[in-house]
Amino acid sequence: MKKFLSFLSSLVLCCALSACGGQDAGNGASQAPATSQPTQPPVSTQSLETPDPSASPDVPALSAPVDETAGEGRVLIAYFAYGENAPLADGVDASTSASIQYRDGKLTGNTGLVAGMIADATGGDLFSILTAEQYSDSYDDTIDVGQEEKRADARPELSSHIEDLDRYDTIFLGFPNWWGDMPMAVYSFLDEYDFSGKTIVPFVTSGGSGFSNTIRAIEDAEPDATVLEGLSLRDSRSAQAEGDVTEWLDRLEY
Ligand SMILES: Cc1cc2nc3c(=O)[nH]c(=O)nc-3n(C[C@H](O)[C@H](O)[C@H](O)COP(=O)(O)O)c2cc1C
Repeated sequence: MKKFLSFLSSLVLCCALSACGGQDAGNGASQAPATSQPTQPPVSTQSLETPDPSASPDVPALSAPVDETAGEGRVLIAYFAYGENAPLADGVDASTSASIQYRDGKLTGNTGLVAGMIADATGGDLFSILTAEQYSDSYDDTIDVGQEEKRADARPELSSHIEDLDRYDTIFLGFPNWWGDMPMAVYSFLDEYDFSGKTIVPFVTSGGSGFSNTIRAIEDAEPDATVLEGLSLRDSRSAQAEGDVTEWLDRLEY
């Protein structure tokens, strides 16, 4: 019986040893403990085999679709304002001129104020049309220069340029009425870009003349763009125009 028990325990020991040898076989590290064998961390295995962006915020796939669509269909609000095109001293009293306003502490004009309201409502980018040569800091002199430029059908050189027009498919275009027309710098702007296939949404501020014939002029300059219903505001009302702007944008579904 003793002999039989001794034989049985030898048999059990033998089996245990041969089982261990089988586990190590194949990786050539017979002495290495089983726990040191390379294993894929469960998280990265899952992210490699099953792309599930929501599983981990670090998975790059999460940001790819956002990057691909970023900027598409964005709105640009391009505008001309006297207050951004004249060497006016910072801190100049806005009440000294019908055309000097502040937006977020920076000098602009009535048109720039309205442009800011449109940007706030649509999340669009602002673009100020700037001339290489500034107008006079005297508003009265500027009135004469504006008349002279119109008579000469001038195209003042611009110093600001849109960096990536492809990003935008809607261009809000704002300007003051100058002598029953757009400032000639706005014609320079329209000459510089091809807005074919894009939507132009005009807005104007004026002492009362409104758009005059400027909608036709925009359509002539950009015949392959769609020109939507514009908004005309009195200069004296531009600082309180938020309600009008919102109503108009709602109507246009922006
Ligand atoms: C050169 C010049 C010409 C203007 N001509 C007219 C005009 O013909 N009709 C009108 O209603 N307002 C006229 N205005 C007034 C401006 O259209 C108005 O004050 C506008 O809101 C100014 O916009 P801004 O402050 O953005 O430059 C003229 C202003 C200037 C400087």
